[in-house]
Parts: sequence; structure tokens; C-alpha cells
Amino acid sequence: MSFSKALSAILIVILVAYVGYSFNGSDTAQIPPEGAEPGAPLANVVVPPLTGAAKLGEVAFNENCAACHGKNAAGQQGVAPPLVHQIYRPSHHGDVAFLMAAQNGVRSHHWTFGDMPPVKGVTRDDVVNIVAYIRALQQANGIN
Ligand code: HEC
Repeated sequence: MSFSKALSAILIVILVAYVGYSFNGSDTAQIPPEGAEPGAPLANVVVPPLTGAAKLGEVAFNENCAACHGKNAAGQQGVAPPLVHQIYRPSHHGDVAFLMAAQNGVRSHHWTFGDMPPVKGVTRDDVVNIVAYIRALQQANGIN
């Protein structure tokens, strides 16, 4: 094998290892559990008492997001991920990620559900309340 071929081979090995690491070694790659019925919730969500913005957010969430993200944001098999999930904790997906998601949609990158389209008719205030709701659910389920 020539030197340059050997070098290319080494670079490819490093690249594959790196890509493998970034998809599996961190908490970013998520595969929905197998075996669950289509539409089945993907998380066991404890619902805390909700007040104020979180209560308003629950209503807005049920109107605009629950069709995909499921009741109590527990996700739905084959449709969309749970938002009550470690990867959506505040330090990993800040509040602005929710505003961006609703406004611009999301290109599929964490899961295999496909893209999220922009959500029409949801206001910025709605999303701010939805974030309060999701954070309340996350906290009650040990996601901080
Ligand atoms: C048509 C189905 C659908 C609807 C409606 C929907 N989502 Fe999503 N959403 C998805 C899917 C699928 C993903 C996962 C994309 C991926 O693979 O990362 C997602 C991802 C997200 C993410 C993660 C964004 C990121 O940066 O990774 C947030 C936050 C989110 N949705 C919030 C919402 C909110 C808030 C609403 C309601 C206003 C909503 N979604 C409505 C399907 C939907």
C-alpha cells in the first residue's frame, strides 16, 4: 500500500470513529423504543399541579403541539418525540429552541420521525407559555 493510500485509510478510520462518536457517544442520537404500538406514548410523564403561564401553556400545547408530541408531551411512537426528555433539558435546548421550532419548523436531526413543519397560528406568547408548561413537566420528572 502506498503511503498516501495508508494515510487516506487512517483518515477514514478517524472520520468514521468521530461520526460514530457524535451519533452514539453523546446524548444527541435517539432512537424511539421498538415494539410500541403506533401512537403509544414514549415517556411516563408525571403531571404536577399547573398554575399561571404553565396552565395557559398546557392549553396552547394541546391545541398546537399535542397532535404530534402527544398528551403531556410524552411523544407518540411513529409521530414525534417526547419533549419531557433529557435531550430537551434547558441546558441542551434553551427556550429559544422552542420559539424557533414553532416558527421555522425543525429539520429531523435527533430522531427518525422526520421533519417538524412550522406551526401556523401559534403566537410568541403562546410559545412562551408552552415553554413554561414543558419546563414544569420536565422538572416534575427529574429533568433539570
Ligand atoms: C406535525 C408534527 C409536529 C407538530 C404539530 C409539532 N412538532 Fe415539534 N417536533 C416534531 C418532530 C418530528 C420533531 C423531532 C425532530 C428531530 O428529529 O429532531 C420535533 C421537535 C421539536 C423540538 C426540538 C427542536 C430542536 O431544536 O431539536 C421542539 C422544541 C418542538 N418540536 C416543539 C414543538 C412545539 C412547541 C410545538 C407546538 C407549537 C410542536 N413542536 C409541534 C413534530 C411536530
